[in-house]
This record gives sequence, C-alpha cells and structure tokens, in this order.
Amino acid sequence: MSFKFEVIKECSKTGARLGRIYTPHGSFETPIFMPVGTQATVKALTPRDLKEINAQIILANTYHLYLRPGYELIRQAGGLHKFMNWDRPILTDSGGFQVFSLADLREITDEGVYFRSHLDGSKHFISPEKAIEIENALGADIIMAFDECVPYPCDYETAKDAVERTSRWARRCKAAHQREDQALFGIIQGSVFRDLRMRSLEQLLELDFPGYGIGGLSVGEPKPVMYEILEHMIPAMPKDKPRYLMGVGSPDCLIEGVIRGVDMFDCVLPTRTARTGLAMTSRGKVMLRNAPYQRDFSPLDPECDCYTCQNFSRAYLRHLVKAREILAAILISLHNVRFLIRLMEEIREAIRNDRLLEYRDSFFEKYGYNNK
Ligand code: GUN
Ligand code: ZN
Repeated sequence: MSFKFEVIKECSKTGARLGRIYTPHGSFETPIFMPVGTQATVKALTPRDLKEINAQIILANTYHLYLRPGYELIRQAGGLHKFMNWDRPILTDSGGFQVFSLADLREITDEGVYFRSHLDGSKHFISPEKAIEIENALGADIIMAFDECVPYPCDYETAKDAVERTSRWARRCKAAHQREDQALFGIIQGSVFRDLRMRSLEQLLELDFPGYGIGGLSVGEPKPVMYEILEHMIPAMPKDKPRYLMGVGSPDCLIEGVIRGVDMFDCVLPTRTARTGLAMTSRGKVMLRNAPYQRDFSPLDPECDCYTCQNFSRAYLRHLVKAREILAAILISLHNVRFLIRLMEEIREAIRNDRLLEYRDSFFEKYGYNNK
C-alpha cells in the first residue's frame, strides 16, 4: 500500500479531525504523536517496548544517521526498518533543522549548507538533492523536504529569505525524489509573520505535496503566538492532506494543536525529560528527585496502564534516579512515551464522540493549568 490519507471525521466544534494515514509499513490513525528515534533508537526503549505502548510510527533524523553510521551502511543493511528492526512506519526529518541547531561553522548558500560535524569537526555539505539521496537510502515511509529553519526571534527580511529559499529547495527536493514508496512532505516556514507563513504555504501548495510540515515553531516563541500562527494558517491548508507540527509535544500543545487542525506531532520531550527524572502524569508533572517521593510507595500515575506504573512505586523510581541507575531512564521513558500516546488515543476518542473541548477542560482540570 502506498501513501494515502483519509479524513474519517471532522469535529463539529473545533478544527480537529480524525484521520488515517496508510503507508507501505501499515496504517495508523491521526492525530498521532510520533516518538523520536534520532539515532535509529527511541532512547532507552526497544521496538518491543514501543509496540507494547502502542507506538504506531517513529521519527529518525537524517542529519545524525548521515554522520553516523552513514547512509550507505544503512542502505546495505536493507534500510532503516531492517537495520533497527522496526517494521511499522518511520518518518525521517531532512536535517534542515538539525544542521541549523547542532552543526558548527555553517555556511548557507543557495546550493546547500556547508557545516562541520558536531561529533568530530569533519566538513560536510548537504543540499536538497543530497538530503533526498540520504532519505531515499534510509527508506522511511514519510520523508521531509530540506528546509531552512530560522531561530526566534528573527527579523522579517531573514525570515523572508528563508521562506524563499525553502520553496526553491522544496522544488529541488521534489525533482530529486524518485521513490514512489516514500511520501515527500514540504515544510512551511515564515517564523511568526502571518504574511510570510501564507506565502510559504502558497508556494509549497504549487508543488502539491502529499502532506505538509509546519516548521519553525516551538523554537522559543510564546505559546499563544504559536497558536495564533496555527489559527491563521491551517484554515488555508488542504483538508485532504495531513498537517504535521514539527518538534511539538508538550501535552497542552498537543491538545491545542489538534483543536486547530494538526494531525501529526513529534518531540524528544518525553524521553529527554525522562532521563532527568521528570515524569508527566495525569495529575501533572512529577520530579522524582524531589524529597516528597522518598517514601511514596504509590504508582507513578495510578491512571496509567504502562509496565512502570503497573509494577513500581514512586519511591523505587526515585531511588533509581538518585542512584543514577540506567533502569530509571528505561522505566520513566516507557511511562512518558505511553503517557503521550494515551493522551492521543483519548483525543481521538474524544473527536469520535464530539467532546474534544470537554476533554481538554477535564484534562487541564486534573493536569493543572499552571503546570504545562
Ligand atoms: N523540527 C522542528 N522544527 C523543524 C523545522 O522547522 N524544520 C525541520 N526540518 N525539522 C524541524
Ligand atoms: Zn505509566
């Protein structure tokens, strides 16, 4: 089955919709949260764990896998799915974001980006054509166009130039992409400027991608600014194509994003915070390092169905965190990722039953409005 998106139900009171994406490695319902497996591993979790917590699609990063172990090696392994033993859908980001946030000594030209590896300082060059060549070798089901993501805050002229370049690069990505079993998504840029966002969208619509990423957000701008951009832009996006808000994954942004019409999200948040001992629960955040949990023999989240919550106490998890035991990262990552996957399951159920706004209110009532 090649790529297809269908809308199952539109919410009558918000911009949300329930949908399904079909890929060569199976289908999944949207709105969806995609755990991030930057280096062909969702940190601390095995593919078996990911299936147990109902992960449907994961993300991997072109930039990291290009630098290490190299895309020819992954091609030889039979592609990313075989290499990492994950047989469900995968999405690869293009490197357009990582090269701007991680690499050293960047020089951006129209041809592409020259940079030095953050690992060993070696020199590299990635162009739109190169990014597609790498993504083709990795073989993900959904691949992202090579874009220029500007930081926040950013002046208008810089943001405008990045929009124009991102459109030219998107055209080149599309021309370079030949594999029919991979869906290539364009990425909308434009920082916080409404007119630039619309311009970016219009230019990408001309290229008729099967889906659209919304990039350049969650880069330090206030959340209401991000919501306002989404409200302005999403009504102009095609109804029959998935909308992917890149790099966003806090519970409040997931709910608010879905309400405004977002179908896909990814974020390192659940795994990254887990490694610092921070857990998200139905009653808000729990910093397991803190003293109150020392003799708290209750489960991390009594409402959670994950292995961690079914088997271990907060006191034990706190002990593991304090002792810097590797199991702390494993158990808390498992829980945090399950927490966001379950949140999305509940959001989909709420859309199905036309009670998404009620769900939002009851979620925040418990989670805490000031605990985001
Ligand atoms: N991940 C989060 N934001 C972005 C973005 O603007 N571009 C890309 N390629 N990836 C992202
Ligand atoms: Zn749990």
